[in-house]
Amino acid sequence: MSKKRVAVLISGRGSNMTALIEAAKASDYPAEIALVVSNRPEAPGLIRAREEDITTAVVDHKLFGEDREAFERALDDALAAHRIDLVCLAGFMRRLSPWFVQRWRGKMLNIHPALLPEFKGLHTHRRALEAGVKRHGATVHFVVPEVDAGPIVEQASVAVREGDTEDTLAARVLEIEHRIYPRALRALAEGRASIASSAEDGQLS
Ligand code: GRF
Repeated sequence: MSKKRVAVLISGRGSNMTALIEAAKASDYPAEIALVVSNRPEAPGLIRAREEDITTAVVDHKLFGEDREAFERALDDALAAHRIDLVCLAGFMRRLSPWFVQRWRGKMLNIHPALLPEFKGLHTHRRALEAGVKRHGATVHFVVPEVDAGPIVEQASVAVREGDTEDTLAARVLEIEHRIYPRALRALAEGRASIASSAEDGQLS
């Protein structure tokens, strides 16, 4: 079976992107990272992707001003030009419109640094510490129009330790992010995860 062609969308450091690139090096991995796209030209992840000989593209949202639709059309054109099958958002810091999300429905994953549906949005580690939760973690989910919602594909947790700071907790969560994202992409590429097979509450059956 031919490998699915994947685009990873980033805005920054790209450590999850790197985890996906590393996983995709295995000959039995069902997907290849065919493209890395950043909306920020200075994203450090772009340098790393180029070092790995992966094709990169920049679709700079600033050049489109308020015209979100034009930005997303340019993004979509880049994906089409590289015959992309699946999209992984990995620290991509732009909200995507229902138009774009619908186009990639069932084919686009996101990783969020919390145990969804807890702590949607930003500053998840700080908020988890403030809430005093015993466990915290990360979630890979299908992208739907509502931000940080959508059927869950993979989730893993870590214990919150006494004395944890935002940084120490973030570092432990990041380690599990790097484990679950490649697993989730594998499941999607092999057809073991789909939006259609998900229950209404967003959990995979
Ligand atoms: C990760 O914590 C991810 O869960 C969140 O943004 C961060 C991106 O980090 N969506 P990186 O760019 O993958 O290193």
